[in-house]
Formats: sequence, structure tokens, C-alpha cells
Amino acid sequence: MSESIDFLLTNIGQLCTIPAQDGGPQRGQRFGELGLMEHAAIAVHAGVIVAIGDSDDLSARYSSLHTIDAAGRLVTPGLVDPHTHVVWAGDRADEFERRIAGVTYQQIMAEGGGINRTMLATRQADIHQMMEETKPRLNAMLASGSTTIECKTGYGLNTASELAMLSAIALLDMEHPAELAATFLGAHAVPPEYASDPDGYVRLICDEMLPAVAQWRDEHWPGPLFCDVFCEVGAFELAQTRRILEAAKAQGLLLKVHIDEFEPLGAGRMAAELGATSVDHVVVTSDEDIEAIAQSGTIAVSLPPTPFGLGHIHYTPARRFIDAGAAIAIATDCNPGTGWNENMQFVMALATRYLHLTPAEALVAATINAAYAIERGSQVGSVEIGKQADLVVWDVPSYPHLSYRFGSNLAHTVLKRGQIVFSADWRTLLSWMG
Ligand code: NIG
Ligand code: FE
Repeated sequence: MSESIDFLLTNIGQLCTIPAQDGGPQRGQRFGELGLMEHAAIAVHAGVIVAIGDSDDLSARYSSLHTIDAAGRLVTPGLVDPHTHVVWAGDRADEFERRIAGVTYQQIMAEGGGINRTMLATRQADIHQMMEETKPRLNAMLASGSTTIECKTGYGLNTASELAMLSAIALLDMEHPAELAATFLGAHAVPPEYASDPDGYVRLICDEMLPAVAQWRDEHWPGPLFCDVFCEVGAFELAQTRRILEAAKAQGLLLKVHIDEFEPLGAGRMAAELGATSVDHVVVTSDEDIEAIAQSGTIAVSLPPTPFGLGHIHYTPARRFIDAGAAIAIATDCNPGTGWNENMQFVMALATRYLHLTPAEALVAATINAAYAIERGSQVGSVEIGKQADLVVWDVPSYPHLSYRFGSNLAHTVLKRGQIVFSADWRTLLSWMG
């Protein structure tokens, strides 16, 4: 007698299951383990993976209303994008023209442009407008295979607007098929009203914003909530960053830090000491900080679209992190300033060329390690029994294609919690609708 399930994804040419390592991200010698299977199938029931095995065996064992035929294609877990600033209003195309003409990102920021430009547009937008401007970007992310996406605030920079951004993230999480992780980034830039008193802004974050954010979390956000700080010359210094992170920790928020994007300030050691979930950017990180990160549970999240978007030639020295034993993840950093890119396939393409990850390591960095970088490693990021059925059928025969090719979308069908949320093929959609 055959068991009943919602559907069977059959005839998978190559399946990358991408196992966790001892209940955590892959690191050290075992970084890059794909858990490959051939001629495989996945049984899904109630949005969860209930069996993984040989395609013929599972077809004989299960009867299901729907069968999705992968027709020999590659299947991976849904990609996880663990660092984005995807909620914002407006754009900065004019700043891009100036940057291409030679003006630096930091010069534009010092003139009051950059993050504070987007802050003005975002403060003027209501929650509805923020959501409407963000949806096409989330659609592009989902269609390119990202099924779980971290979203930061940081374009409000006062209590009311930061809370409005959090509400937009929570509403998008409910309305949009992509699953969102939320991060409070009140410490993204010092807003103009505090230009002459940056410490006053740090006090506002610690004494007013963080308690309000913790209350918002208690009322509206059941999962973990992160606090992030842009620790950088011209943004927040090391001592200010520590004050904010300690205040956030006291409110029960988990920690992330933008570190070493332009200047090495030594925030890696501090983040590791404070037990941060991740340190992000890590371009100009010192050997001492790499060592401290490697010795800790903190994950190094590299954002290669950012140097690419800025036309820079320096990327995260990923092999030094890997050799030291650190866990590496990759993300888009999608934002209107340094890099407006929704597609994790492009991030894998950059990571292989400029971080010198192998195609297998890039895929691990974009799935299970990325899931742990947002504390969702036990729900998403790998194909395992009991995990969410977040899956991508790719229109390619094998995993190296995902970073070998770039510039077009290789996703064929994207499933979130067992539902088809994107298909490049109308026949798949028709068979799904019955
Ligand atoms: O991660 N570094 C700080 N924040 C973003 C840029 C945001 C913006 O320019 O709007 C980043 O690159
Ligand atoms: Fe960022």
C-alpha cells in the first residue's frame, strides 16, 4: 500500500542536499560538501520534506496527486540571502553617474548623500509605499531562487520611521511568498539632525529606539530579531558600535555587524567576543580579527556585489578565513547605493572569481551557511527530512553551472514550503493547477 503525500518531485538528475555540519555551518576541511545524489526524488507533505531517495523507489512507494518531473535537471535547497537592505524608497541613479565619473562613495556620504538621501525618501514614504517599492525586488529575488531573505531597516533613522520599516518587513513577510528575517539597523548612518552630536544619536538608539524595537518584537515578531551596526569611518566608531551592540544584547536582540568594508577598525574581535551571529563585508579584515572570528561561532558574510558595484578591486580574502577555520556565507547586500542586485546566482559567480571559492563552496555559502547566518539553519538551507520544502529546480544539469554562467536567470521552478512560487515554464504551472 502506498502512502499519501502532497507531491513528489521526481527524476532529479543531480540533487545537492547540502548537509549541515554537526548542527551548524560547514567550515574547515568539510566546507563544500554537497551531499550529491543522482536520479533522485523528494516527497513533500504539508510544506515539509518527508522523504528523499531514488526516483524509482519513491515513485513506487508514494501515490500523490501531483508529480513534478524535474526531467533530469539540477535541484538544490532554496537559496538564502542573509544580508539585504531591500526595503527602501526612491533610487540613487544620479549618484551612480557621479561615482562612475570618479567621486567616491565616502565623498558622496560626507556631502549628505548616500544613505541619508535614501533616508529622506524613505521617511516620506508611508508603509504601503515602502512595501509597493520593495515587492518587485522581492519578486526578482524569489524568481532567481532566493526563498529566505534577510531585510534590514536603516533608512528611517528616527524611532517612528525605523518602526515603520520594521512593520513593512513584517507585513511583507506575511504577504509575500518569500520568508523574511528582520534586522534593526538604526545605526546605519548618523542622520543630519545629529550631525554635530553623533553620540547623541547613539544615546537615542540605546535609550529610545532599542527599547521601542524590543517592544515591537514582543508584539509583532515571534522569531529572532537582529540588531546591526555599520561600524565604519564616517558611520559608527568602534566604541559607539560596542555601546549599541551591548544595549541590543541586553534587550535580547541577536547581533550582526557591518565591519571592515573600507577601513579596518578591529570590530571583528569585538563582535566575536559579544557572540555576534555574523560579521558582514569583511573586506579589509586584519589577520588577528580573522583568527578571532574563526575561533568563534560568528559567521563571516561576504558581499561581493558591493566591491563590484563600487568598481573596486578588493574583495573578502575568503581563503584566509577558510584556512583559519571560519564559516563563510555570501549575500547580495541589495541596496540602492553600493549594489542594487537581487540575484544570488550573480553572487555565486562573483564569489568563485574574486573570493576564489569553488563552485561547490559558493553553493554551500549561499544555502546552509547563509541559513545559519540568520539563525534559520534548522528550518531551511538544506534538503533534509523534516525541513521546509524550499527547493529550486534549475534549468541546468549540474551545480557548477550556477556560478559558471551569469547574467541570466537559470531558475526553472522555485518552491517555497512546498508551493510553486515561480516557474519559467508554463507547462509546469499548468500541471500544478491540474
Ligand atoms: O552594506 N555599508 C552600509 N550599508 C550598505 C550601503 C547602503 C546604502 O548605500 O544605501 C552596504 O553597502
Ligand atoms: Fe549592508
